[in-house]
Amino acid sequence: MTHIFLYGPPGTGKSTVGRKLAQNLNLPFIDLDRVIEEEAGMSIPQIMEQQGEGTFRDLETASLKKLAGEQESIVALGGGALLRDVNRAFAEKHGRVILFMAELSTLLERLHYEAGKRPLLAGDLKPKLTALLEKRREHYHSFPLMIHVDGKSAEQNAYQAQLAAGRHHLSAMGEYDAVVQSRGIDQLGEMLKARGLQNPILVTDDNVANLHAEKAVTALRNSGFDPRVLTVPAGEAYKKLETISQIWKGFLEAGLDRKSTVIALGGGVIGDMSGFAASTYMRGIAWVGVPTTLLSMVDASLGGKTGFDLPEGKNLIGAFYPPKLVLADPQLLDTLPEAELISGMAEVVKHGIISDPELFSLCGRGLDWVKANLEEVVRRGMAVKIKVIEEDPYEKGVRAALNLGHTVGHAVELVSRFNLRHGEAIAIGTVVEARYSAQIGRAGHGLVDAVTSSFKSLGLPVQIPDAMPRDEIIRAMRVDKKKTAKAIRFALPVEIGKVELVNVDDLESVLE
Ligand SMILES: NC(=O)c1ccc[n+]([C@@H]2O[C@H](COP(=O)([O-])OP(=O)(O)OC[C@H]3O[C@@H](n4cnc5c(N)ncnc54)[C@H](O)[C@@H]3O)[C@@H](O)[C@H]2O)c1
Ligand SMILES: [Zn+2]
Repeated sequence: MTHIFLYGPPGTGKSTVGRKLAQNLNLPFIDLDRVIEEEAGMSIPQIMEQQGEGTFRDLETASLKKLAGEQESIVALGGGALLRDVNRAFAEKHGRVILFMAELSTLLERLHYEAGKRPLLAGDLKPKLTALLEKRREHYHSFPLMIHVDGKSAEQNAYQAQLAAGRHHLSAMGEYDAVVQSRGIDQLGEMLKARGLQNPILVTDDNVANLHAEKAVTALRNSGFDPRVLTVPAGEAYKKLETISQIWKGFLEAGLDRKSTVIALGGGVIGDMSGFAASTYMRGIAWVGVPTTLLSMVDASLGGKTGFDLPEGKNLIGAFYPPKLVLADPQLLDTLPEAELISGMAEVVKHGIISDPELFSLCGRGLDWVKANLEEVVRRGMAVKIKVIEEDPYEKGVRAALNLGHTVGHAVELVSRFNLRHGEAIAIGTVVEARYSAQIGRAGHGLVDAVTSSFKSLGLPVQIPDAMPRDEIIRAMRVDKKKTAKAIRFALPVEIGKVELVNVDDLESVLE
């Protein structure tokens, strides 16, 4: 099972933060030192004193190994628990390790009152702690996932740990976990079992079927399932009632009952349709999202919006119907055409602008950096969307912030007759809206430059094509479903990390 191990020097708050984290993620919490003490029937200082550090480390190894059969948990480790190679190998095989790091001064302050409980630090705290940190410096810094805990509350550090681990538990619309995990698809069966989900059927499109269905099927078989695969044609053109009908019939033919689980393996089109088909089949059966495009990982798979298009317009029919699990495996993006990846990056940059300045600045490093760091991009991109939809699941207020770039962007996408990809249109829309925000004094011009150069560095367009008639764009904005009676509500950026909802009636000036 995949645990989350919290590791690092004594005094970094692994236990306190671990409890908080376990609460946030709805997982059990295990403090390994307490487990060792219970098993040994004495305290760690007593074990050290009476039996020596070697015995203590043996006990540590033994209790760590017992976790292999336990359900997924948050595990706080002692400050030297992974010094032994076997322990480290075990932890890295059965979960991911998040290293907590802090300045010496922070640690001294926190440890001052409890040095007696920490035998390796008994006596004069400062020189001992300094020596211990020096000795383990290389060791601690060899763990790739690290958070710095100085000056932050336990709640803030728990959130940092969630971001690093790529784990969230959503509860505002249905309860489900969103997990980012490289090669996570290999554990799909286990993840279903852990959630009591049964009798899975995969729904996918004909591109993804050839590339990734086999992995999902193997993982499910390894957990004792016998999954069917239902393949539909790829592309937005097939996001229509006829395809939904085909999916419903496929469910019937496969003998799905109310206890079955639909797994949507694909991009946003597959997620929207499979979720909708699941929401209506036998009045609603469970579904799981396994997004395979960047856009669907950071956006479409989260938030419970499902549906399909009518000839009259996109997404006109649908339902709020949250999944039981979203598993984003960034490894699956390796096969995604570059143009799709770039298009998805427009939404990631958008999420940075909405509420994650660090994500925004990472995006500015350009496409090569992004390709080499997809897991981090997905983790951060997903976290922003989750924060917003947890606050406002049914779009009564702040969820409208996610429309940043979309009022102009949708219109430009429509007028281009979908010759521009969604992300390309959104990049253009975001720049235009940022410029307007500066024009009316809500944002500085520095923001416009920053946003423009970020999109450019990713290969995204930043200008409305010259030949595109402005009056058509304005007309398209007016028929956009986000319009209110007199004015259109824009989500305008005011600084990186902050947007405001503003009603605009003079649409001509937006495009100036
Ligand atoms: N529900 C929501 O909240 C929400 C939010 C945003 C967008 N959407 C919807 O999402 C859809 C767009 O999603 P999308 O961009 O993922 O489009 P998509 O599902 O059409 O996927 C894009 C293309 O990539 C292919 N593909 C997918 N994964 C691949 C992989 N790993 N390797 C190679 N090829 C792969 C697909 O076959 C398809 O041809 C739109 O219909 C939009 O309305 C929904
Ligand atoms: Zn979008």
